[in-house]
Amino acid sequence: KKVTIIGVPMHLGQNRRGVDMGPSAIRYAKVRQRIEQLGFYVEDLGDIYVPSPERLTIENPKLKWLPQVKEVNEKLADQVSKAIQQGSFPLVLGGDHSIAIGTLTGVTRQYQEVGLIWFDAHGDLNTEESSPSGNIHGMSLAVSLGIGHSDLVNMGNFSPKIKPDRTVIVGARDLDPPEKTRIHELGIRVFTMHEIDRVGMAAVMEEAIQIASQGTKGIHLSFDLDGLDPKDAPGVGTPVLGGTTYRESQLAMEMLAESKQLLSAEFVEVNPILDQANHTAKVAVELIESILGKKIL
Ligand code: ARG
Ligand code: MN
Ligand code: MN
Ligand code: MN
Repeated sequence: KKVTIIGVPMHLGQNRRGVDMGPSAIRYAKVRQRIEQLGFYVEDLGDIYVPSPERLTIENPKLKWLPQVKEVNEKLADQVSKAIQQGSFPLVLGGDHSIAIGTLTGVTRQYQEVGLIWFDAHGDLNTEESSPSGNIHGMSLAVSLGIGHSDLVNMGNFSPKIKPDRTVIVGARDLDPPEKTRIHELGIRVFTMHEIDRVGMAAVMEEAIQIASQGTKGIHLSFDLDGLDPKDAPGVGTPVLGGTTYRESQLAMEMLAESKQLLSAEFVEVNPILDQANHTAKVAVELIESILGKKIL
């Protein structure tokens, strides 16, 4: 039983400083000790180097900091692959959501057929053509499905990383119009907040786990903290009202642990300078404990 922590202080996938301090904030909330208390051997690889924007110029405003985002993600993919080769569970701490590109490259290089649960207020299904912002953190799911700039899509020399019929989004409530079109075209199962309200998180997760584990070696969890309601997770760069509660999110994580399908996970978009006394990082740590099997009783 081993967990490998990989910090990625990535902020170049979006415009707000502070998210680069996410890995520190989560470590400050004692992620390592909490996982050790569950009986795991923990190895923390520290942070992958991410350059500061002060030293860089934006070459293409439709794909901001593409060369740097690519390079960091390639390093991340290698570290994730290596952790899996060593029989460990990779736990990636962000950083903005553009790091899902590298995590999924590493995970699928090792396991090939992987299902994906993308917990998020957003779809992150934009391309350089459809993006309202030019921020790559809003494109990382599309890239992983094989849609987007070739430098990102072809990372690791294979594409796509994941298939739309084994991918689910949970918690969506802010989708750009072109993202809605893409969801319908690809047939991705999206559990919106409307659906969570109607049938409840338990029914949603039962179906989500079934879709993501069918015909796969297991599930990767990509957890954007802005999927939670801003009341419960205020320290995020793109908050959207009306998200999942702390309890609903915990239930989702507990059900994932019970499924025994989880191969790897990442927790992203924690921004401590927008947070209240590191609350969002603490929430992330408690959710991490749950996916690793912590039970109340
Ligand atoms: N849809 C918006 C965009 O493309 C917001 C994306 C927010 N993504 C995130 N990972 N927080 O810019
Ligand atoms: Mn989001
Ligand atoms: Mn929006
Ligand atoms: Mn996201």
